Formats: sequence, structure tokens, C-alpha cells
Amino acid sequence: MAGRIPEQFIADLLARVDIVELVEGYMPLRKAGKDFQGLCPFHGEKTPSFTVSRDKQFFHCFGCGAHGSAIGFLMKHRNLEFVEAVEELAGVAGMEVPREARSQRSSGSRDLFTILEHARAFYEAQLRQSSEKQLAVDYLKKRGLSGEIAKAFRLGFAPSGWRNLLDTLNAAGISEEQAERAGLAIKRERGGYYDRFRERVMFPIHDRRGRVIGFGGRVIENGEPKYLNSPETEVFHKGRELYGLHEALAANRKLGSLLVVEGYMDVVALHQFGLPNVVATLGTAVTREHLDLLFRQVPEVVFCFDGDAAGKRAAWRALENALPLVEGNRAVRFAFLPEGHDPDSAVREFGAEGFLKAARQFGLADYLLDTLKLEVDLTTGDGRARLIERAKPYLTQIPSQSHRAGAVRTLADLSKFDEDLIRRELGLNPDRGFTPRRAPVLNRFTSRSLEEQALAMLLQMPSLAAQLDEELVGFCRQELRDGLTLLEVWTSIQARPPTSTAALLERWRDDPLEEPLAALATLDLGIPDSAFESQFAGALARLRSKAEEQRFARIKSIPFEQWTDEQRDIVRNYKRAR
Ligand code: CTP
Ligand code: MN
Repeated sequence: MAGRIPEQFIADLLARVDIVELVEGYMPLRKAGKDFQGLCPFHGEKTPSFTVSRDKQFFHCFGCGAHGSAIGFLMKHRNLEFVEAVEELAGVAGMEVPREARSQRSSGSRDLFTILEHARAFYEAQLRQSSEKQLAVDYLKKRGLSGEIAKAFRLGFAPSGWRNLLDTLNAAGISEEQAERAGLAIKRERGGYYDRFRERVMFPIHDRRGRVIGFGGRVIENGEPKYLNSPETEVFHKGRELYGLHEALAANRKLGSLLVVEGYMDVVALHQFGLPNVVATLGTAVTREHLDLLFRQVPEVVFCFDGDAAGKRAAWRALENALPLVEGNRAVRFAFLPEGHDPDSAVREFGAEGFLKAARQFGLADYLLDTLKLEVDLTTGDGRARLIERAKPYLTQIPSQSHRAGAVRTLADLSKFDEDLIRRELGLNPDRGFTPRRAPVLNRFTSRSLEEQALAMLLQMPSLAAQLDEELVGFCRQELRDGLTLLEVWTSIQARPPTSTAALLERWRDDPLEEPLAALATLDLGIPDSAFESQFAGALARLRSKAEEQRFARIKSIPFEQWTDEQRDIVRNYKRAR
């Protein structure tokens, strides 16, 4: 793998391309004031709320909240990862993407990918050439797999014996230590190494870009463990990868929804039956990272679990991780197959059309409340009140207004309590709705704190940074709530003046501040450009007096005899000024 892309290159790239031209290559825009507008490509709408600003080099949708730079637009519109989007954009701008010197670690990963690719080729060849191949071929046939689908998924065979793969890798100049680092060999306590995978059907696991990162090996017929997986390595992280995602994207670059199942065989079987929008976790629960990865590809995720107790436990874990991620344009559904079926057996029995019809399906809120209601007695007032108590910590995590409203309605049906009363009971004002865990993007500028107002202006017009002085910087550090964020942004602008708001925001990509800053950068300030400087000066003046007041109160809380000379001066001047 190549080294990191230097930050300066990202800044130069964003200065070179024009986001308006880029977006117009994908959809029509029309001029509206100094900005451009169109129908949002990221959610269905009839009146345009998608806005592209040439000044800020930023897009933002007031309907679904999507926003970002030219890089962000490509990532979202084309399902690209950051590096892919940068490469694409650089191509458009006629620039070469430079890389920082390779770190030890990344050149190590490159080797691992090469070794894993060798292993895949070996296993795949063994399915055709090994003297034991008939075992595996018969087994796959018995499971109903076509030769075509086995080829598409690059299935292979690890024959019996302790050194088949190791000898092959050695012959290609790959050491046993390297094979171990790739998760393919195991070190003996007495010394020496042996093949991890033996007498198994091999499922290569690819990352999103199609590189082999690990393997799952299924025992032929019966034996323990049924599946043996690669251990965690530098390139293989089970909690972050999805089996079949590369194949799903290869079949259809623009996916609308993804079905998440539990097993390798389930993915392969559904593909064979013409359902390629399917991925599986790698023998682990669904993590927050999985969900992030899923929602980066599609707005709708459908979890398909077995109808047994283990399936229900897994579904609940998925639900808990999904709740904070269901924003306005996203949806999560759950499908439970009839007892005794998994997706592989169901699709073979009911066919592609019938397989999901055979499942019991729930929306997120229905599944949540249907599960919680089993814990209470709905025939008593007490039990119905308890349902609301139980639901509270879950419902308040949902960021989307509309999803929450639906959940409250269902809760009202079940509990027979009035919707407004439920909202109050959940600690939510019936008129203003919920207070979600993540700060909402309020479009009312003045409802923001003074610090946020100043920060919003600074993000939208970075040249304002010149107005801050040392005294204010001191106040930011000591006296002001959110002062540190203001300071962080100001320092960044001073160090390297950005060419646009978008270029500035790129510096916080994948940082906890990314979203809060973007929200402020897209806040409608209702101030014409010409008035920015004077408004910002006014905001700073008010911040200064707020900080002075706070500093005065802080000093006053210290016993008078302990004041330093400086503090004495501050108090004297403060009193004189009032
Ligand atoms: N799994 C695992 N280790 C095991 C058993 C299962 O890692 N010992 C993971 C595998 O990713 C497997 C998934 O859990 O694909 C689902 O397991 P299971 O339902 O038992 O297997 P199936 O996929 O149904 O496999 P098969 O149909 O081949 O029996
Ligand atoms: Mn199965």
C-alpha cells in the first residue's frame, strides 16, 4: 500500500477544482442567488433543497443533511472511499497524487496482500488439481453450488497435509514468518510452522476494493470447528469487514439496499439465485463499524436472521448499534426466517421471490417495541407505563425526527397513552420534539451560543481570523465554553489559510469535530456577505465582555488575600469600566 496523501495536496486539489462544475457533471443545477440548487441526489425530493456554494466550495442539503466538499460529493455519489475519490478528482484536475514516504507498516501490509493473493491462487488451483479434489467438489455439488458461482467467489480447497501451502509460498520466496503474519500458518511451540487451513473448502474474504484480506475455511461434511477463520492480522479486522461487499459492488455499483446475513454460504447461495445485494459479517456480531460501512454504501439495510434464539440475540445487538445512525433518509429493517431455515436453505426452498416473503419482517421501531413489550404486562396500566419507561433510552437515541415520530405513534397505540403525554414522559417537549443525543442542525442562528455564532461565521468566511487577537485567544483558552474549538479552528486558519470553507473542513475529516463543524458551516446565518466583517466584530466584542464578566466572577470566588497583582488589576479595571 502506498503512503499517506499529504494534507497540502488535498488543499491544492480542492483549490484547483470547482465543486459547481463537478456536481453539474452528475446532475442539473440552476443558479439561485449566489449559490446553485438542484434536486438532492441523496434522498427523494420534489422541490430542490440541495445547495452548492461556489464561495465555500461546499454542498449541503437542507432536506437530508448531506454535505461535504468536492471529495465528499464524489465519495457519496459514487460510493468511493476517501483515497479513491481523491484519485478520481486528481485525474479530473490533471494532477498526480503524491504519497508521503512509505511507513514500515504499510509496506508490510503490501507484502501481506501479495502473500494472501498467492494463497488464494493456490487454494483455487487445488480445487481443480489436487488428488483429493473430489471430496470438495462433491461437497459443493451436494450443497447445490454451481461451478460458475464457485468461480465467481474464487472458492478453493485446502488439501490434507501440514505444509502444502507453506511449501508453495516458500518456493515463491515467502518465508514462514511472513505466512504466519498473513494468518496462513501457525507456529509450533517446539519450533517450525504448519498450514492453518487443512481439508477445508476455502472462502477468500475480500475487502471493498477486492484485495484478499483473509479466509474462511469450512470443514467438509462434519467436524469441528465447522468454520475456521483467519485470525486478526494487520489487514484483517473481523469487526470492520463484510463478506460479499466487493462482489455486491461488482454486480451493481449503485446499490439501493443491502441484505445482511450470517453466513458465507448464505451470501453465495443468494448470489446464485440472482440476489447479489447481500453481505455477511464474519462470524461476529454486527458492530457500529459494520453499520458505518453499510450506510456509506446504501441508505437501507435489511438484517436477515434465523428465527431462533441466537438469531434474535444477534438482531437485538444490531438494533442497539443501529439506533444512533438512523438519520432521515436511512432505514433499517429486520427479517426473521422461519424456524429451522437460514437464507441458504430458504432461497433453495422458496426461490428468490419467495425467500423474503417467507420471513417475518419488521421496521426498526416495530421490532424495538415488539421486543420490549414482551417484558411487560400490557393488560395493566402499570405495565403500559413501564413500556414507556423501557422504550425511553432507545427512542431518545434516534436522531431522525420522522423515525422518532413513528416510534411514538406506535408506542401510543401499544400503551394507549396520548402521544403528547408520551413525549412529555420521555422528557421531550411536545412542541419542540426530542432533544437527540447528537446536536441537531438548528437553522435558527440566534438560538446558538455566542461562541457557536462566532465559530459559524469564522468557518463560513475564514479570512475573518485576522480579527482575533491575543487577549481573545487567552479568553478562549480560559473563560469561554466552546472556546477551545474556536481556538482550534482559528489556529488552523492562521497556520495555513484555506482557500475555501470546504478545504478548511477537510482538516477535520474522521475527527469527532467533523460533524459539529460541518453543521455550523452550513448554518444559515441570514447575513449578507458584506455584513460579515462587522457582524463578526460585534460577536467578538460580546464574547470579550462575556469572558471578562466570567473572569471577574472567577477571581471574586478566590479569597481576596490570595489575589495576585495581576488579578487585583483586573478587578480594579473591571469595576472602573462598569
Ligand atoms: N462461523 C464461524 N465459526 C464457526 C461457526 C460459524 O466463524 N465455528 C461463522 C461463519 O462465518 C459462518 C457463520 O458464522 O458462515 C454462520 O454460521 P452457521 O449458521 O453455523 O453456518 P452456515 O453459514 O449456515 O454454514 P453451513 O450452511 O455451511 O452449515
Ligand atoms: Mn447454512
